[in-house]
This record gives sequence, C-alpha cells and structure tokens, in this order.
Amino acid sequence: MSVSQRLHWCFPLILLGQLGCERLAPVPAQFRSSAEIQKLPEEMQKQVREALENYCGTPAEPKLLGALESRPETLKLGRDVYMQRCWQCHGETGDGAGPAAAQLYPRPRDYRRGIFKFTSSPYGSKPRRSDLVRTVKLGVPGTSMPSFAILSEAELAAVVDYVLVLTHRGELEFQIALEAEGADELDADAVTGLAQEIVTDWNTAESTAVNPETPKPEFTSEHVTRGQQAFLTKGCSKCHGEDGRGQTLDNLESKLVDVWGHPTRAADLTSGMLHGGREPIDIYRRIYAGINGTPMPEFKTALSAEPETIWDLVSYVLYVSGRRRSRPEQIPDAGSLVAYPRSPAGGATAAGGGD
Ligand code: HEC
Ligand code: HEC
Repeated sequence: MSVSQRLHWCFPLILLGQLGCERLAPVPAQFRSSAEIQKLPEEMQKQVREALENYCGTPAEPKLLGALESRPETLKLGRDVYMQRCWQCHGETGDGAGPAAAQLYPRPRDYRRGIFKFTSSPYGSKPRRSDLVRTVKLGVPGTSMPSFAILSEAELAAVVDYVLVLTHRGELEFQIALEAEGADELDADAVTGLAQEIVTDWNTAESTAVNPETPKPEFTSEHVTRGQQAFLTKGCSKCHGEDGRGQTLDNLESKLVDVWGHPTRAADLTSGMLHGGREPIDIYRRIYAGINGTPMPEFKTALSAEPETIWDLVSYVLYVSGRRRSRPEQIPDAGSLVAYPRSPAGGATAAGGGD
C-alpha cells in the first residue's frame, strides 16, 4: 500500500483525533450489550448473553447466523480487518458508537438495527450482499465513510461477513430483548424462531432487486425539463427545496430525524456528492424505493401511473448534481430548462458539454 493510499483513508481519522490506522486494535473479550439488555435482571442478562454467543459467537470466535458452512477463518480475517479499519467509527459491537463517531455527520451506521440506506432491494427490505460490498468498496461520497478499494477481494468479502455477524447479532439481541421483557426464563425455541426469521429476511432480499419499470431513455433536455416540473409538483421540493439545495425550513431547523435517532437533512442534491452513487440506476432506486431509515419516501406508488417520470427525475437530479462538477457524459444539454432558480452564467457550463 502506498503512502498516499494510506493517507487517503486515514485522513478522516487523523482529523478526528489521531486514532491511528495501521495499528490493529485488540479484539474485545465480549460484545457490549445493548441498553435494552442492560435493563433486564442480572440472571436474564446472563441467559441472553449465552443465547447470543450460541448463535453469533464472540469477537474471538465469531459465528455467522445462517451460514451454510462454518467459515471460522474468514470471519476472523473479517474481524481483524474490522478492528483495523472500521471500529473507530462503527464501534467494536457495530453500534455506530466508536470513538470517532460523535463528531460525525451523518453518524456512522449502527448496524444492529439491520437497516441500511443504499440498497438495490425494495423499501423496508434488507440490503443485498452486493450492496454492502459496494458501499465498502466505494465508500459513501460526501460523508466520512471512506472508500476501501485498497482491500483485497478476500479482505473485502471477509469484512462484509463480519459486518453481517454484527448486524445479525444486533437484530437478534433486539428481538430477544422484547421476548425477555417480563419473562423469568428465556424460551429457547422462541430464540431459534427469531434467529430463523432474521436469516429468512436476509435471504429473501437477495432475490428482490429493484429493476426499472421502463428502460432508461437516452437523456435529453426534455427529460431534464420534465424532471424539474415533476420535482416541483410531486413533493420533492418540499424537502429538497425548489433548487434542490435542501435549504428548507425543516432542514435548516434540523427537524428531520432518522430511525437511529439522529438529526438528518434532505440531501443537497446540488453538492455534486450523491451518497448513494451517481449512476442513473442508483438514483432511480433512491427515488423509486426511498431510503431506508430516513425521511426519504419511496415514490413507487405515487408514480405508478407514470413510471417514466422517475427517469425524468433522475435526469434532473443528475443535471443539478452535475452543475458544480463536470460529468458531460451523463448530463444532458439543459439549454431549454425553464427558469432554473440559480442559474448564473457559469452554472450552465457544467451541463453545457452534454450530448
Ligand atoms: C471515518 C469513519 C468511518 C470508518 C473508518 C468506516 N465507516 Fe462505514 N460509515 C461511516 C458513516 C459516517 C456511514 C453513514 C453514511 C450515511 O449514513 O450516509 C457509514 C456507513 C457504512 C455502511 C452502511 C451503508 C448503508 O447502506 O447504510 C456500511 C456497511 C459501512 N459503513 C461499512 C464500513 C466498513 C466495513 C468499514 C471498515 C472497512 C467502515 N465502514 C469504516 C463512517 C465510517
Ligand atoms: C419527506 C422529505 C423528502 C421528500 C418528500 C423527498 N426527499 Fe429525497 N431525501 C430526503 C432525505 C432526508 C434524504 C437523505 C437521506 C440520507 O441519505 O440520509 C433524501 C435523499 C434523496 C436522494 C439521494 C441523494 C444522495 O445523496 O444519494 C435523492 C436522489 C432524492 N432524495 C431525490 C428525491 C426526489 C426526486 C424526490 C421527489 C420525487 C424526493 N427526493 C422527495 C427527504 C425527502
């Protein structure tokens, strides 16, 4: 690994208090129990810990729920990569509360809810494995989630497995906490059932990719113009603002909250940093299926009578997003765009190179 590559991903960490990056953090003896579990009587906490260890293992000996064959060596490699590169933000237990987390916006993902934002699966579903691989490889541009393209394929696959261990463990823990409340004994059969449900949810998501209802057109200025109209009339501008910059009252007063309990904002679509990726299909999926855990709703139903409007919106999002950076291959010539609110003379040049 070259020094510059190393600096690339270290950079946020250096900024956040010299946490160091090449050092492998010691593997914790135990995962930390969630607040819900800590509230239970001592004896019940012990039973819950045992059940969780039985299904998901310990940091030293992790187990992947529902894995067809046990892959202890892969999971240990994944844990080592995680303890080298991820825990500073995502926490040893995957609770999103690592030492660097508090200063970050958006917050690092708390994996334990099993909810992920940038998925190719329908709203409310688990992500597909390839979504997690992609996020780790490319990072989330415009946030502190770095790109880990420097990892080998084996390390990448292994660390994703380890994220799955932490996620499944967190989901099971949450479900068990509900089951355990007010009970004297933990019902072993019930725990088995809960574990199976989690595995089923993840397996189901694998085969449910969101694919466009109509094929992607070759974007022209007409698409952008229609997209702008839809943006202003279908509710987008209520959250993202008429110019897509997200300067709405709710946003500025931090009134929006995500499912993890943190303040969130409707994206500034003009920042040039689309968190979920800037391929047309990525943007299509964000609009069609919404963004899990956030106020961004799905528009699948609202636009079911006019599915091609989604592509219009995609072309418009690409257009406003490209205004501050040059990606001529994707941005149509928007010469006929009607009364765009912020169109200084220079603004059009980013789009001007289109077609
Ligand atoms: C410097 C802090 C930082 C480090 C280091 C970091 N992450 Fe993240 N990660 C984040 C932030 C912040 C987000 C949330 C981005 C968002 O909500 O848009 C995130 C989100 C994620 C997500 C969820 C994406 C989704 O669709 O919801 C995954 C998976 C993930 N990170 C995996 C990893 C892995 C694996 C590593 C180590 C190889 C890692 N991260 C290292 C900050 C970090
Ligand atoms: C109720 C508020 C709300 C409405 C209505 C809404 N959005 Fe969003 N949108 C959000 C929030 C919040 C996010 C940021 C989610 C996150 O990553 O945390 C977002 C994110 C997005 C993203 C992803 C940006 C990225 O960084 O990848 C796109 C694209 C988007 N919205 C487009 C639209 C379009 C098009 C419409 C109308 C059809 C729309 N939104 C309507 C709240 C809203």
